[in-house]
Amino acid sequence: MANLSLNVREQTWGTRKGCDGLDRACSRLRGDLSVLGLRVGIRALMPVCDVEVTDIARVGMETGAMTVPSADEVRGWPYVRLLAAMRESNLPPGGLDTVRRFAVELGLGPHTNVLHAGCNSGFLSRELARRTGCQVLGIDISPDMAAAANARSESEGLAHLARYEHRDMRDTGLDAASFDVVLSGGALAFVIDQPRAVAEWLRLVKPHGLVANSELWYHAEPPQQLLDKVAELIGVPVPRYTRDHWRELYNSPRLQPWALHDAEAGARTVEEVERYCAQMVDHVAVGWDDSAREALNERLLDIFLTFNQNMEYLSYTFFAYRVLPAGAEPLLYV
Ligand SMILES: C[S@@+](CC[C@H](N)C(=O)[O-])C[C@H]1O[C@@H](n2cnc3c(N)ncnc32)[C@H](O)[C@@H]1O
Repeated sequence: MANLSLNVREQTWGTRKGCDGLDRACSRLRGDLSVLGLRVGIRALMPVCDVEVTDIARVGMETGAMTVPSADEVRGWPYVRLLAAMRESNLPPGGLDTVRRFAVELGLGPHTNVLHAGCNSGFLSRELARRTGCQVLGIDISPDMAAAANARSESEGLAHLARYEHRDMRDTGLDAASFDVVLSGGALAFVIDQPRAVAEWLRLVKPHGLVANSELWYHAEPPQQLLDKVAELIGVPVPRYTRDHWRELYNSPRLQPWALHDAEAGARTVEEVERYCAQMVDHVAVGWDDSAREALNERLLDIFLTFNQNMEYLSYTFFAYRVLPAGAEPLLYV
């Protein structure tokens, strides 16, 4: 049986205590799954740590040496193991509507050189490259996510447009003024020292270039019971940002507002969540017996119905700013 090793690689948000808890949970994972790499955290919510998983394959779907899990094993899987099984794409806050906004509002085209900060599996920048022909460099603090993004870019025939590297967005080591656009799809929420990350984005962008980001924030106070349940599910406390927090981050005389869009994140109906969970079971649990499939379905429902309730309290803002060179002419009616 193959040996799985998980390491909490870098804490990007949250308390050290939360990370230790996750670390302990990860270290308990041993088994016959192997996964390319994943981010522990979430959908619209509150990730915390990057987790590196060695060996490449899909959980429970392997043939030959790999065995499928029993229902009891699935019920006992820690949250991170479940995420590993799902290998879902991570979309920016606002989903495909936000992807379209990045493409249209930033005027991306074959002439545009784009940095995608905190790229995860690269869904956002692959889609932008596919639609607009822009040239993308995606960076992620997790080397596994950069590798996963490169693998997907290759398999989708986009490697000539979108490539990915392991770098920290707060200190990229890239040349100053080397991008027309720096964009990010909700990764900043997981970064410690966000002003440092934004300062680095401004260093990297050419004069008169654009920076853009989409981030989640709470427009209403969620019940503590719900936050506790979410924290229990993911094993760490839930970060709570406000809209003002994000506005303040871009409050610089070098930034002029270019585009702004606010919307509620929007929960799905219970039926939609149920359908999604059933589809995920079909997608993931190939060759599993009925009781293991049922156990997976129950676990997914528990998680996604809770996350979906949390979505009722969340909004997101898509921000884009024009970056002025030092000493630029001031403008009043921008
Ligand atoms: C929620 S995902 C962002 C993906 C996003 N939804 C998108 O569409 O681009 C957050 C990602 O940020 C990455 N990340 C966190 N801190 C980082 C840092 N300091 N530098 C680069 N990437 C970072 C994590 O590894 C993770 O893959």
